[in-house]
Amino acid sequence: MKIAIIGTGYVGLVTGVCLSEIGHEVTCIDINPEKIEQLKKGISPIYEPGLEELMEKNREAGRLDFTTNYIIGLKDKEAVYIAVGTPQSEDGAADLTYVFNAARSIGQNITRDVVVVTKSTVPIGTNAKVRQLVMANLQDNVCAEVVSNPEFLREGSAIEDSFNGDRIVIGSDHKGAGDIVAEINEPFGIPILRTSLHSAEMIKYAANAFLATKISFINEIANLSERTNANIEEVARGIGMDTRIGNKFLNAGIGYGGSCFPKDTQALVKISEERDYDFHLLKSVISVNENQKTALVRKAKERFGTLHGKKIALLGLAFKPETDDMREAASISVARELIEEGAEVIGYDPIATENAKKVLPEEVQYVDQIEEAIKQAEVVFILTEWKEIVEKTLIFSNLFMEKPIVFDGRNCYSNEDLANLEIEYISMGRDQVTNVQERRVAAAI
Ligand code: UGA
Repeated sequence: MKIAIIGTGYVGLVTGVCLSEIGHEVTCIDINPEKIEQLKKGISPIYEPGLEELMEKNREAGRLDFTTNYIIGLKDKEAVYIAVGTPQSEDGAADLTYVFNAARSIGQNITRDVVVVTKSTVPIGTNAKVRQLVMANLQDNVCAEVVSNPEFLREGSAIEDSFNGDRIVIGSDHKGAGDIVAEINEPFGIPILRTSLHSAEMIKYAANAFLATKISFINEIANLSERTNANIEEVARGIGMDTRIGNKFLNAGIGYGGSCFPKDTQALVKISEERDYDFHLLKSVISVNENQKTALVRKAKERFGTLHGKKIALLGLAFKPETDDMREAASISVARELIEEGAEVIGYDPIATENAKKVLPEEVQYVDQIEEAIKQAEVVFILTEWKEIVEKTLIFSNLFMEKPIVFDGRNCYSNEDLANLEIEYISMGRDQVTNVQERRVAAAI
């Protein structure tokens, strides 16, 4: 099928590339000329494993192209996807400016009947407004129907998720339009759920809010485990084996970040307020998460009394591994608090340093190599569980630090990993066995 995608951000680009991979002819449209120039040269503006390779393959096969021009991009297309950003506005609500601009442009430029497919995460009722806007701006005697098709991709594994997702949700109040989107997606071989427009819009928010709740819940149990000598990993395994609970998204740590959970939970609270509904539970989830981000700073203060003048290396700055995305990353809150406490902060990330420089306090110093960060530090904080960081931190701390102390916000190591190392190790939700003899005993159990 001939498809146009508006927006070459994270969602739009991955969607466009994957739709071309299953055989559709895709044109990606973006108003940013520099981005389009880069994409035409085969350079992806975001770091996502496997994306550039797939982009190149489909461009060469003639199934994928890029343009800034709506007239060219929308010509003859049977489906037009809206995949533009819905950033958080000052009051927490989703800012729909880009979605509505896209809807107007679609109306002004289509020359045949189309299905408008919304991928962007939008508040309940937005798609009906999108249809009104498209129809109000039509130049020709054509028609548009809307379908909500939310995305469930995770940054860092978006390509993998596109081909192995759990479900594809297609929400429409117009059967024919829904059928077309079902046909587009059929080659993915993923179960398709057909719903009403409003339900599909709600499913996206409910899924992200539920996952955020699961993370905040396990983090609270982790905090309690620390105070009761329980071990959060054993607890998570024990509850996760109950299939009603499920074993995924039960990793305790320093909270969730990124462009989705923080933004979508805030937006859902706002949607609730607009309907005079007090979403108590979700508000608590958000506040637990805010507090959790700086748990390592509190642990370090407890350990040292003061952090004034301490040289602290932050290993991993991105909100999670395999991405250069710094949005709502825990490292931002951690660096701010440490600087306020008077610590000297050294930052290291394998990929996200350039983006980190834009959002972390200017006092942070950056290094290009993990060993440099560890050599310069008196204390190490692990904030993102990049493979390189997990593999090298213990070895280098042991080699280069006089009295190695590692605060691990992502629980990267077990007692076995630490059994023979004289490293003081403080992690999340686990009995803090710092003494090497005790650790050997614990590892042997
Ligand atoms: C999330 C959802 O997982 C996707 O399904 C959804 O499509 C996407 O938002 C979106 O709305 O666009 P993403 O934000 O890319 O995806 O990343 P996740 O892998 O879900 O991680 C989010 C945060 O939760 C990270 O900071 C991660 O470290 C944290 N997390 C995740 C935990 O602290 N514990 C866990 O067990 C899992």
